[in-house]
Amino acid sequence: MTGRTSIHGQWSSRMAFILAATGSAVGLGNIWKFPYITGDNGGGAFVLVYLLCVLLIGIPIMMAEVLIGRRGRQSPINTMRTLAHEESQHGIWQMIGWSGMIAGFLIISFYSVIAGWALAYVFRTAAGVFAGVTADGAASIFSGLVSDPERLLAWHTIFMVMTMVVVSRGVRSGLEKAVRILMPLLFLLLLLLVGYAMNSGKFAEGLAFLFTPDFSALSAGAVLTAMGHAFFTLSLGMGAIMAYGSYLPKSVSIAKTSVVIALMDTAVALLAGMAIFPLVFANGLEPGAGPGLIFQTLPLAFGHMAGGTLFGTLFFLLLTFAAWTSAISIIEPAVAWLVENRRVNRIKAATIIGVAAWLMGIVTIMSFNSWAFEFTFAGETKSSGLFDVLDILTANIMLPLGGLAMAMFAGWYMSERSTADELDLGEGLLYQGWRFLVRFVAPFAVMVVFLRLLDVI
Ligand code: PHE
Repeated sequence: MTGRTSIHGQWSSRMAFILAATGSAVGLGNIWKFPYITGDNGGGAFVLVYLLCVLLIGIPIMMAEVLIGRRGRQSPINTMRTLAHEESQHGIWQMIGWSGMIAGFLIISFYSVIAGWALAYVFRTAAGVFAGVTADGAASIFSGLVSDPERLLAWHTIFMVMTMVVVSRGVRSGLEKAVRILMPLLFLLLLLLVGYAMNSGKFAEGLAFLFTPDFSALSAGAVLTAMGHAFFTLSLGMGAIMAYGSYLPKSVSIAKTSVVIALMDTAVALLAGMAIFPLVFANGLEPGAGPGLIFQTLPLAFGHMAGGTLFGTLFFLLLTFAAWTSAISIIEPAVAWLVENRRVNRIKAATIIGVAAWLMGIVTIMSFNSWAFEFTFAGETKSSGLFDVLDILTANIMLPLGGLAMAMFAGWYMSERSTADELDLGEGLLYQGWRFLVRFVAPFAVMVVFLRLLDVI
C-alpha cells in the first residue's frame, strides 16, 4: 500500500477518470485514421487483427499502464524511476518515460496539423461549400486545403494554442463537464451518418469490406499497422494513460474502467467505418485514398442529406473537440515532468512544449505539398513523406515498444503483491488471467509482429 498523492491533483470520481481517458482515447485515431488505414490495408482481415490486438494486448496493457501510474503518482519518467527503485529494479526503466515523452512530442506535432484540417472543415461546411457537392468537387476542395501551407499553418496554430490553454490550466478543469456532453453528441452524429449510409450508400458492400476477412490481403506490414493502431487509438505506450492514471483515486477499479474505455473507443471507430465505406463504394471512390479519406467522403453525405450543413458543421466541430481532448493528454506527461523537475508552473511548461511541437508541425504541413515524397515501407507505398515516417515511427514502433516494456515491468518486474494490491481483483482467475496476458501473451504478440516484419520468422 503506497500512500502517495499527486502534486497535480486528483480526478473527482471514477466517472471523471472514465470521461477524461475516453476523451484521450477517442479522437482522430478513431474517425480519421482508422477508416483510412483500413482502406489502405484491404478491410476485413485488418479490422479483425486490430480488434484482437485491442482485446488481447490493448486492454491488459491499459490496465498495466494505469496501475503503474496510480502507484507512482507522478509524471511517467518520475513514476518509473520511483517504482523501479521501490521494486529494487534497475533505473533504466525510466527510459519508458523518456521514450514516451519523445513519442508524445512527435505525435502532437502531426496530430495538431490534422486537427487543423477538421477545424478548417467546420468553417467550410458552415459556409455551405459542400451543398450538392460531387466526389470530384469534394476531392478538389480537400487538395486545395492541403496544398496551401500557409492556411495549414494557420489552423495548426489555432489548434495548438487551444491545446496549450487547457493544459496550462490543469487537465481537470472543464474537461469532465465538456466530455460528458460532447462525447455522447459525437456518438449520436455518427449514428446519424451510419443511418444516412444505410439509405444512400452501398451499405452491404461497406459492411462486407469492413467485416469479411480476406487473409490473402494481409501483409506483415498490415499486421504491424493494425497492432500499432491498437496502441495509438487507446492512447497506450507513451505515458498519456499513465499520467491520467496518476490522478486516479485509489478506490476506483482499474479493470472495469479499462474495459469500458476500450469498448467505447472501439465502438466509435467501427461506427466511423460503417459510415464511411458505404459512401466510398456508392461514389466510386478509392478505399485506399490515404489520409484525406474522410475529408473527401463525409462532405458527400453532408452535401446531400437534409440539414446537411447544420449536421456537417456540428460533426466537424465535435471531431475537433475529440481531437482536442486527445491532444491535451498527449502533452500532459511532458508538462507534468517539467513542472516536477524544472520547477516551472504549468503555463510555462505548456508553452515550452506547445511552441516546440508547433515548430515541429511544419514538417507535417510540408509533407502534403512541397516536401511530399513516396517511399515503400513493408511492401506498402506511402506518399506523404515525413508525415508517414513520423506516423510509422510513433504508432507502429515507439508505442508498441513502450507498451511492451510496460507489460514486462508490470508482469515480471513488479512484485505480485504490488500489482494485486493495485488492481484489487482478488487472487482468483481474473487477476491471474490479467497477469498471464501481460507476462506472456502481450509481449509475445508484439515480438512476433516485429520479428515477422524483419523477416526473421
Ligand atoms: N488515442 C488518440 C486518438 O485515437 C491519440 C493518442 C495517442 C492520444 C497517444 C494519446 C496518446 O486519436
